[in-house]
Amino acid sequence: MMADTHRTTHICPHSLILTPESRRPAGCCRHLARFVQISGEARLALGEILVARLREREPDASTAALIKERLRFACAPCIVTVVGQPIRGHKVPEIEQLLSGGAVCLSLLHAAHALGFAAQWLTSWVAYDPVVKARLGLDNDEQVLGFIHIGSAAEPASERPRPALNDRLSQWAP
Ligand SMILES: Cc1cc2nc3c(=O)[nH]c(=O)nc-3n(C[C@H](O)[C@H](O)[C@H](O)COP(=O)(O)O)c2cc1C
Repeated sequence: MMADTHRTTHICPHSLILTPESRRPAGCCRHLARFVQISGEARLALGEILVARLREREPDASTAALIKERLRFACAPCIVTVVGQPIRGHKVPEIEQLLSGGAVCLSLLHAAHALGFAAQWLTSWVAYDPVVKARLGLDNDEQVLGFIHIGSAAEPASERPRPALNDRLSQWAP
């Protein structure tokens, strides 16, 4: 899906995409998202961790499934893991803390696209597996909100059928 380019590796982690997100007041914002970047050789090292973990979870996993895990993080040159830590009892309701983290993911997609990159928001089982989360350096109370894969499109994205907006739009009336 994405091509490994020097340009992306160079630009991905900091300035234009992540800096605006980090300009927040410190102290009162423990629930705000943090980021774990996965790039370079680390992508394949993480792939080996996923292969080992899939073997534990599914001893009969097919070769194709294992290869998929080995390459899961190798398709894009840079992946930004968006990590949320919803805090129970915080004045901001948990749902809003999570929505805020989701908005961060979407902002990253928009920022990457605005800069001319391709980007995709993925999760899958690896976002929820406690062993994988620990290997990524997450605490027990932290959640992967998304792996934002950023690269250059190797081919145009394929379109798919879309539900009609009118089926999902209603007009409220008193
Ligand atoms: C929270 C979240 C998790 C997702 N996880 C996956 C995933 O694991 N695998 C996948 O193929 N697509 C996943 N997607 C969907 C892709 O990112 C999809 O390309 C994106 O939603 C845009 O799709 P569209 O342009 O076809 O509507 C996920 C989307 C969201 C919002």
